[in-house]
Amino acid sequence: MKKKMSGPVLTWLGHAAFHVRTPGGKTILIDPWISNPRAPQMVSTFTQANFIVVTHGHGDHLGETVSLARSSKATVLAMYEIITYLTKKGIPTGVGMNKGGSYVADGIRFTMVDAKHSSSIDDNGVTIPGGEAAGFVMELEDGSVLYHAGDTSVFSDMVLIGKIYKPTIAMLPIGGLYSMDPREAAVACSLLKPKVIVGMHYGTYPALAGTPAALRKALAPEYRKRVVELMPGISREF
Ligand code: NI
Ligand code: MN
Repeated sequence: MKKKMSGPVLTWLGHAAFHVRTPGGKTILIDPWISNPRAPQMVSTFTQANFIVVTHGHGDHLGETVSLARSSKATVLAMYEIITYLTKKGIPTGVGMNKGGSYVADGIRFTMVDAKHSSSIDDNGVTIPGGEAAGFVMELEDGSVLYHAGDTSVFSDMVLIGKIYKPTIAMLPIGGLYSMDPREAAVACSLLKPKVIVGMHYGTYPALAGTPAALRKALAPEYRKRVVELMPGISREF
């Protein structure tokens, strides 16, 4: 079947960080901790963004948001409390949101959804409350739907995320310790029913021991082929 637009191009930058080129040619950075131990050498080629999406305040997700937002003039989308903090730090444009709310720009609809996790910001040793941790659904120009779960356990309301937004691609944490591991992520997939499953938040440190292979093994047979293992820095069109 011939497509009208090319699909979204996803590049994993290690940990929970992704660069997305949308079918309409916009760029989105998600949880841009681009100095993570698994970031690709050429990570600097992925630092331009129209939008930066931050799921929660922990340093491994907030990452280099302030400097990236300043250099790229990106609009930052995050929980209200995080945007209040980032605005004080000098980001040019921030959109404070909360769960269930959407922000539409350039034909892309960003919706903040639930996540079961904590959220705080470490500001040079001072801990600042970051509101609640969240996930994001991004409905792109061609109708494809990305779901980035942030850090979370599995929760039964993922059924609603599946029902309302019908995610095409689900980016799910599988490392364990701070989030789901493959056993829980496999249940999350059965609730979300995504076409493509991308594991993240694993391999950064030895403690984040889950792997895409272990996820595949934990999944029901009909979902196993949907797991796509991305290599940091290697872009893939969907
Ligand atoms: Ni976290
Ligand atoms: Mn994390």
